[in-house]
Amino acid sequence: MPALPLIIDTDTGSDDAVALLLAAASGLGDIRAVTTVAGNVPVTVAARNALISLETAGRTDIPVHLGCAGPMLREASGAQDVHGEDGMGNTGLPDPGAAPRDGHAVEALLSYPRRHPGELTLVTLAPLTNIAAALLIDPELFTRYRHVYCMAGAADLAGNVSPTAEFNVWADPEAARIVTRAADADKVTWIGWDVSRKDAVMTPADQRRLQELGTPMATFTHRINRTVADFARNVTGLAGYDLPDPIAMAVALDPALITEQERAHVQISVADETRGQLVIDRRVSAPAPNLTLVRRVDEAGFKKLLFDTVAAPGAPLPGDAPAG
Ligand code: RIB
Ligand code: CA
Repeated sequence: MPALPLIIDTDTGSDDAVALLLAAASGLGDIRAVTTVAGNVPVTVAARNALISLETAGRTDIPVHLGCAGPMLREASGAQDVHGEDGMGNTGLPDPGAAPRDGHAVEALLSYPRRHPGELTLVTLAPLTNIAAALLIDPELFTRYRHVYCMAGAADLAGNVSPTAEFNVWADPEAARIVTRAADADKVTWIGWDVSRKDAVMTPADQRRLQELGTPMATFTHRINRTVADFARNVTGLAGYDLPDPIAMAVALDPALITEQERAHVQISVADETRGQLVIDRRVSAPAPNLTLVRRVDEAGFKKLLFDTVAAPGAPLPGDAPAG
C-alpha cells in the first residue's frame, strides 16, 4: 500500500511528537508539510519541537510552517502542566538543525490541496485555529482534501481539561465551531480523548518495553512523556500516560484499526460552564451528521504499530553521542 500523503497540523507537545514519529517512520505516511499552532506550547516552541521530532525520525527535509499564535477570540492557554515547560517533558533537547520555512501555516493549508486536489489527508493534533482561519478564507477547503482526521473532543463528555471538554476543542471552541459547521461526516473524522483514555494508555509494562528497546525513537518517546506520566498519576488517574495524538494518527494511517464509530450531528458549546463540550444530537430528528466519531480502536494493533515504528534505528537522539 503506498504511503499516505499527509499534511499535519500540530501544537507539538510530547504526544504530538510521537504522532510525528508514526507519520514519518512507520512507512505508512508521506508527510508533505507540517503546520504548527499555539496550544500545548507557544507556536514557536511547537515548531521547534516538530523539527526535533522529525529529525529524530531521520527527516530533516519536511517543511514546517509557523501558524496562529493564539485562539481566534480567547486568551492563549498552554498545557505545560501536562507536557512540561518545553512541551517535551523538560528534557532540555538541543535546537534542531532545520528551521521553519517561509509562508504562514494557514497559507500552506490552503495551497497544498489546491496543488494536489483530493490527494492529501489532513491530520490535526491541536486546537483548530489554523484550520478555522483557512476555512474563513476558503469555505470549500475540506472538499479539496482526501480526508480530514482530527484529534478532538470527547464523545462521552468525559473531559481532560474540564469535566466535559477535551483540550484541543476547549482551547479554541470558536475555531472548533467553524470546523464542525463546515464538516461533512463522509469527509471529517474525529478521534476523541475518550478513545485515547480507553485504547492508548501506556501502562508501566509498555513504558518498561520502551526503555528495554533502547533505540533512539523508543528512548525519545519514553523520555519526553515523563511529565504526562506524572499528570496521569496525579490528575487523570489513568494506569499510565495516554497518547491521544498518536492514536489519532494511527487511525489516519490505518483506518482498519477502528473497531467502533458513529456518525452524528455535533455542535460545540462556547458557554462558559460547558466551554468546548460536544453537543451531540443522536435524535431521529437530528440534522444530517457532520462528523464521524471514532469510539473505539484496536489497542493491540495501535501498540504494535507504535512499537514496530520506534524499534527502528532512526537517527541518533538529538544531543546524544551517536549510538554504536
Ligand atoms: O486533549 C489532548 C490534546 O491536547 C492532544 O492533542 C495534546 O497534545 C493536547 O494538545
Ligand atoms: Ca496536540
